[in-house]
Amino acid sequence: MAIERTLSIIKPNAVAKDAIGAILGRFEAAGLRIVAARMMHLSREQASAFYAVHQERPFFGELVDFMTSGPVMVQVLEGEGAIAKNREIMGATNPAEAAPGTIRADFADSFTENAAHGSDAPETAAEEIAFFFPEGVCERTR
Ligand code: TYD
Repeated sequence: MAIERTLSIIKPNAVAKDAIGAILGRFEAAGLRIVAARMMHLSREQASAFYAVHQERPFFGELVDFMTSGPVMVQVLEGEGAIAKNREIMGATNPAEAAPGTIRADFADSFTENAAHGSDAPETAAEEIAFFFPEGVCERTR
């Protein structure tokens, strides 16, 4: 399988639970290496732009309120099949359907406050990585 990069966000509710270390540890244990990382408090403009694809959906306002409610931890994960592997580790979007032991099963508080984001395809991964890390990411040589 090809080495891929994917954009991951630890959302405000999981940051508030002091679960950053636990979540990053799950990625590393699964062979996903961190090649960029940034902690930030999204503006409404940034959150709206990141989730622009959902702007006509009924949950959009609640989603932007949540994503701007506190700091997030944004990282780029690199590894074999990183896009699908990250989504497997995160679990289903709706935490009620997330498999036991996944990030969303363990740290989500609701459908909207579902603890983590992960890119869903190579095209969106590239766009999302450029959105948060326009300066590029590290080459990991070791
Ligand atoms: P989506 O891109 O469909 O899911 P994912 O994050 O798994 O790629 O939705 C983006 C976020 O919007 C999702 O993580 C949580 C929120 N959301 C809701 O609050 N209600 C909903 O009905 C849906 C579909 C998503």
